[in-house]
Amino acid sequence: MRPEVPDHLLDIESAPPGFLEHVLDLAARMRENPANWSRAQEGRLLVNLFYEPSTRTRVSFEIAALRLGMRVVNIAASDSSVKKGETLLDTFRTLAAMAPDVVVVRHPEDGALAPLAAAAAPGLHVVNAGDGSRSHPTQALLDALTLRTRCPGFPALKVLVAGDLRHSRVTRSGVALLKRLGVSEIRLCAPPGLEAGPRVSEGVRYFEDLDSALEGVDVVMMLRIQHERLAGMAIPDSETYHRRWGLTRERLGRAAPDCLVMHPGPMNRGVEIASDVADGPQSVILEQVANGVFTRMAVIQALLD
Ligand code: CP
Repeated sequence: MRPEVPDHLLDIESAPPGFLEHVLDLAARMRENPANWSRAQEGRLLVNLFYEPSTRTRVSFEIAALRLGMRVVNIAASDSSVKKGETLLDTFRTLAAMAPDVVVVRHPEDGALAPLAAAAAPGLHVVNAGDGSRSHPTQALLDALTLRTRCPGFPALKVLVAGDLRHSRVTRSGVALLKRLGVSEIRLCAPPGLEAGPRVSEGVRYFEDLDSALEGVDVVMMLRIQHERLAGMAIPDSETYHRRWGLTRERLGRAAPDCLVMHPGPMNRGVEIASDVADGPQSVILEQVANGVFTRMAVIQALLD
């Protein structure tokens, strides 16, 4: 049975039951045979509207749309009339007047997309490409696709998310999706002051020490320090941070023997993750990137279909 399909994808928490599972199944089918979908949304138009820098998310939405036969327009806020003082809502309404089918938005403020979705006419779909520290639903989906593909025992897994949890939209969306998919044990570990908020921490195991957190885990996802959101917080220098909170080969030895290493990117090598771990045999970081295209194809297809 087809699940209820929402008009927009703003976050994991508000997606209707079964919709996210449907997207994951569809993404896996698309990955098997991408050519079958090359005209699925022919003639339709996607606009990427990005108020923050991005490599993976922006480019993979563009490639996903092109692989569905769509046309794509990319707008960086830094090159637009935003520089002349135009508000986000006015910018969105202006773009909506040109009749795109999908608008993908990244914005530094938590919850910035809700007014856009409320203003969208029927047939125009808003997709969240990351808002502030709140939500990054397509990152959560591509990470779940990677886990479902790589871990035969999924969801019977111990998954550790470690690093700057406080400022990470990846943590919020990722943990919400892992809980929803029934992952057996979710562990969190963060340096003092960078812990996740109470909602994320509900129903997970919290560790103050990375070595203990890593004991026996099947998957570890490392997150970078979000310097752009620290607002004056004191953080140890890179070398000290790496010694205390970085994933090194020696530390990884505490995890299960085939523990997968994940990172949503961009990485700060030698800070939260050592280069030989990021490039090592247990790393699936580039698989996450590849799955990002199929996941975003599936999101667009599911919303438009
Ligand atoms: N993971 C992620 O959102 O990467 P970008 O900032 O490069 O899009």
